[in-house]
Amino acid sequence: MKVKKPWEPPVILPHRLGEINKFGNRICRDEVEETVFGLNVEELVERFGSPLFVSSESKLRANIRRLKRVFESRYAGPVVHAWSYKTNYTSAICNILHQESSWAEVVSAFEYQKARWLGVPPERIIFNGPNKDEEILRQAVSEGARIHIDHMDELRLLERIAKDLDKVVEVSLRLNFDTGFSEPWYRFGFNIESGQAHHAASAVAFSANLKLTGLHSHIGTFITEPRAYEAQVRIMAKFMREVEERGEGLIEFFDVGGGFPSVNSLKGVYLPPEQTIADLSEYAEVICGTLMEETQYRRRDGRSLPMLILESGRAVVDDTQVLIASVVGGKRLPDGRRAVVLDAGTNLLFTAFWYRHKVKLTAPNQGLPADTALFGPLCMNIDEVRASIQLPPLKPGDRLLFKSVGAYNNSQWMQFIEYRPNVVLVDRHGEVQVIRKAENLESMTAHDLLPEHLKSPLLSAGDPALRGASK
Ligand SMILES: Cc1ncc(COP(=O)(O)O)c(C=O)c1O
Repeated sequence: MKVKKPWEPPVILPHRLGEINKFGNRICRDEVEETVFGLNVEELVERFGSPLFVSSESKLRANIRRLKRVFESRYAGPVVHAWSYKTNYTSAICNILHQESSWAEVVSAFEYQKARWLGVPPERIIFNGPNKDEEILRQAVSEGARIHIDHMDELRLLERIAKDLDKVVEVSLRLNFDTGFSEPWYRFGFNIESGQAHHAASAVAFSANLKLTGLHSHIGTFITEPRAYEAQVRIMAKFMREVEERGEGLIEFFDVGGGFPSVNSLKGVYLPPEQTIADLSEYAEVICGTLMEETQYRRRDGRSLPMLILESGRAVVDDTQVLIASVVGGKRLPDGRRAVVLDAGTNLLFTAFWYRHKVKLTAPNQGLPADTALFGPLCMNIDEVRASIQLPPLKPGDRLLFKSVGAYNNSQWMQFIEYRPNVVLVDRHGEVQVIRKAENLESMTAHDLLPEHLKSPLLSAGDPALRGASK
């Protein structure tokens, strides 16, 4: 049967050459994906609404198993992965990773309490971050969590708490330094080049209540150059040797943080991520190889290798989640671009500020692709999920998929103007489960309190405020 093509109003479009340029195919063609992790998009939207975040349990388990395998097969000592909660702290996501033996890496009272609430044993919690107040630090110390000290005031506070509790607390120092490959994150931890880090190590050594057993650094995020990690390990290992030679501590674990990139495109990088992102095995090769080389002396002395800790976030979870969004309407901008308004914007897709996510259509569309801007639902000019993408004409109700959105969206999303939507998980049997319920008026107003005289939006007739207003 001959299918009638939908009518489209005639438009004059500039012919743009250079769809393929020296950087390869720059545009998003009308490739269609009708399913997400094996499930039909329309059926998902019918059941759970739009926008909708869809996560895959199998993909997440496969990713973390692979990460562990590539490191464990290259390192002769123990390897631990600690899940960086801030990347995505949806409870179900955390527990999948904990079931796969990941520890928790937390950076606030909330994250610490959440890990404990989920049932993570304290000795499997790494407490990082620059803001640990006395109350939470006291809890973490008395429960036996592993604390990475960020600054000198925290060191003093920790010493006081340890003294109060009459404990010797094993601690590690967060270090920062310049690897020469990525912008150094100097604001976290103690700086090696300036001597601050050695000063902190001797302060720990002088304390009767603190004992230095670990070193940590996190050199940044989305580090596309594996050699940055070689430099990191060498700098940390040199510091470790010096600390041990001075008798300031015996290092049992060596935490290299996270920072491995996910298969996503950063804004301004035109080559596709498949061509710019090194495989995890390359990161494992340099980290494990360098650490084994740098710790030869320990083996000669009959000491075991330090435990290698990884805190990889986005590389583990990014490609395990997709966002389904629907078209609300369209318009044409004065510069000739098509513009499409979606029901999901930067309120949900925080990472749109620095990524060009892969975008897919979910149904065939015969229209001519043209330069299109994708806007979200917020009444704010900044709410642009894509300034420019080649897409065929879209009509209200059409869906788009935003791929690889599992990292830093379900934690950095904003409750602003719109309710946050359902997040569902496609479990190992292909069944769908809601893992975070959509917000509604009840959940959104649960924290509001109305003083007695503000219970009504109307002033009562005898209210003195009325008299004031009429003057
Ligand atoms: C201390 C620490 N560890 C791990 C991570 C996870 O980083 P990524 O998602 O880049 O792997 C972060 C993120 O900022 C961090 O601050």
